[in-house]
Amino acid sequence: MKAAAATLCCLVLVLGAIVREGACSKPNVLFVVVDDLRPQLGCYGEDYMVTPNIDQLASKSVLFERAYVQFAVCSPSRTSFLTSRRPDTTHIFDLLTYFRNFTANFTTLPQHFKDNGYATQSVGKIFHPGIASNNTDDYPYSWSFPAWHGSTEKYMYKRCCPGSDGQLHKNAVCPVYNMSLVPEGTLPDLQTTEYSVQWLKDWAAKGTDQPFFLAMGFRKPHQPLRYPAKYLDLYPMSKISLAPNNFFPPYLPPVAWNPYASLRLNEDVMRLNVSWPYGPIPTDFQLKMRQSYSAATSYTDTQLGILLDTLDREGFADNTIISLIGDHGWSLGEHEEWCKFSNFDIAVRIPMIIHVPGVTSPKAPPGKTFPFIDPLEQTGRSGNANTDKSDQSHHSHTQEQGTKCDGGGDCRSAGGYVTQALVEAVDLFPTLSELAGLTVPPTCPPDDAQVALCSQGSSLVPLIKNLTEPSYNMTLAWKQAVFSQYDRPSYFPQQDSDGPRWFNVKIMGYSMRTAHHRYTEWVAYDVDTFTADWTKLYARELYLHEQDPEENWNMAEVTSQQDLVTQLSGQLRAGWRAALPKEL
Ligand SMILES: *[C@@H]1O[C@H](CO)[C@@H](O)[C@H](O)[C@H]1NC(C)=O
Ligand SMILES: *[C@@H]1O[C@H](CO)[C@@H](O)[C@H](O)[C@H]1NC(C)=O
Ligand SMILES: *[C@@H]1O[C@H](CO)[C@@H](O)[C@H](O)[C@H]1NC(C)=O
Ligand SMILES: *[C@@H]1O[C@H](CO)[C@@H](O)[C@H](O)[C@H]1NC(C)=O
Ligand SMILES: *[C@@H]1O[C@H](CO)[C@@H](O)[C@H](O)[C@H]1NC(C)=O
Ligand SMILES: *[C@@H]1O[C@H](CO)[C@@H](O)[C@H](O)[C@H]1NC(C)=O
Ligand SMILES: *[C@@H]1O[C@H](CO)[C@@H](O)[C@H](O)[C@H]1NC(C)=O
Repeated sequence: MKAAAATLCCLVLVLGAIVREGACSKPNVLFVVVDDLRPQLGCYGEDYMVTPNIDQLASKSVLFERAYVQFAVCSPSRTSFLTSRRPDTTHIFDLLTYFRNFTANFTTLPQHFKDNGYATQSVGKIFHPGIASNNTDDYPYSWSFPAWHGSTEKYMYKRCCPGSDGQLHKNAVCPVYNMSLVPEGTLPDLQTTEYSVQWLKDWAAKGTDQPFFLAMGFRKPHQPLRYPAKYLDLYPMSKISLAPNNFFPPYLPPVAWNPYASLRLNEDVMRLNVSWPYGPIPTDFQLKMRQSYSAATSYTDTQLGILLDTLDREGFADNTIISLIGDHGWSLGEHEEWCKFSNFDIAVRIPMIIHVPGVTSPKAPPGKTFPFIDPLEQTGRSGNANTDKSDQSHHSHTQEQGTKCDGGGDCRSAGGYVTQALVEAVDLFPTLSELAGLTVPPTCPPDDAQVALCSQGSSLVPLIKNLTEPSYNMTLAWKQAVFSQYDRPSYFPQQDSDGPRWFNVKIMGYSMRTAHHRYTEWVAYDVDTFTADWTKLYARELYLHEQDPEENWNMAEVTSQQDLVTQLSGQLRAGWRAALPKEL
């Protein structure tokens, strides 16, 4: 333990922190995962969003502009970043398979902290609950204490939206006007926030030296969009707009399409008679979904704000590393699509924010780092980008954060740092390990099923240092590409296209994002051996991000692009190992 603590001191010193003599202890970790949260946030330059607490966190953190998950659905994505292995290694493609039984006994991120003397606690949705995590959220392997869930999580897909007919319904859009009409009179994220707040208070009261790894998983803005209706005040319908590209991409191969079957199971969506499989959803309902997604995001921002405020008041803020991510993105009408379940940027790009006290922002006395900001009191800030921005502090902050600066200079004045380096969710495990002074899992060898502790990502600490330490000499060229994949049971959309069971997978779409392109190949996949047959190519997609950042125009079959296609195809097949950061 002593040796580990000494390692941490050295690392923190290297990171440029002011370490007071004798005040050296292992940092805590607050690991926040938000279900289906795309980077539609104030700090990501979306001015109409009212997310003051996430923005405040970002203003004291490094914000990763180009962060990607490895698979755009819950359990495959979460299993991937929690084990730091890619889906081709975890073999977790659906929501009903547990990696330890099915694949191998990998060491997880929280388990690594637990093995190194941390108290690890899961609250809410961190692992995909249920069979996917052995009905225990991987307790006791990953956690020191049984994982905690709010009692109202079980109503997620039940009928509990009061309708004008006096009956309860299962609706995708479900603002709660009267809390006493929902089961138990509360909501999952209210319960988990309350529990985490109490957990932090209890931990502070114990006065123990043991560091904690507290993982907090928020449920919203996952559909059904059930949240306190007061958040609708921030987003009047007159200010809501459709996705700028809410049209069907004309050259999209059918295998790339996700027919959003789970959204259609809601009664309010069913009533729309949306045509199978391409829709579209009527525009007034598109607007309602977009409005409720924004409102549910501000509701989650409030819960995060309460949690961070407690962390700060209880005196933990100056010694707690904070990581905040979404588990994947979400389409809100872009490409005429809904939900995740695809390889588009909109589905695989996530918000990723990492706060290191004393490194990404100066340490401050308790109560001064993350004071709660009530989104509902942020007047004059709602509406779209054309809205008058009377709150100057927010405006300037958003501008600073939205600035596409890479290298620290301009972003310093706002207190936060922004980088456009390409990063992946599998990078979190080695990053948090290094920041906390634990053994950094080495890069996995090619045959890594029997290696418990290794990583298929890269620690982001060099990027953090390059931003925060003026004299840091970056000797690495960062990743040239990041990788995601998605599976399909068939070439044409069918009922289970969004999420086939693993044994029904026939096609895998391997997708790669480089600085200027997204390139995808849909190839035959054999589930008996878990291997792709790259010679059986079903379809290709190429998007030129400089001209087409929304990924509307598939250029893969355009004659003039064939040299580029050949080059990107080689890079895709070479895979993630060939794209790792390299010494200059
Ligand atoms: C899995 O690994 C853990 C340690 O990480 C060990 O305690 C456990 O016995 C292993 N289980 C199996 C089935 O090998
Ligand atoms: C899963 O749960 C079962 C009982 O519910 C338990 O026997 C088993 O040890 C757990 N872990 C694994 C890796 O199977
Ligand atoms: C995993 O395997 C254990 C031991 O065979 C079993 O008790 C448990 O139910 C299995 N869990 C899942 C989710 O399959
Ligand atoms: C909320 O519903 C309860 C139970 O039906 C009712 O008694 C109460 O008056 C309602 N409150 C409001 C503000 O409508
Ligand atoms: C949907 O179809 C049902 C039955 O055909 C019809 O009664 C209803 O009016 C339709 N709704 C819409 C919104 O078109
Ligand atoms: C490192 O910082 C320098 C100077 O700000 C910047 O030009 C460079 O792009 C950064 N490197 C990476 C990989 O982010
Ligand atoms: C940065 O490091 C490289 C490799 O160690 C070295 O060659 C170079 O001189 C260094 N540059 C500065 C400005 O220190």
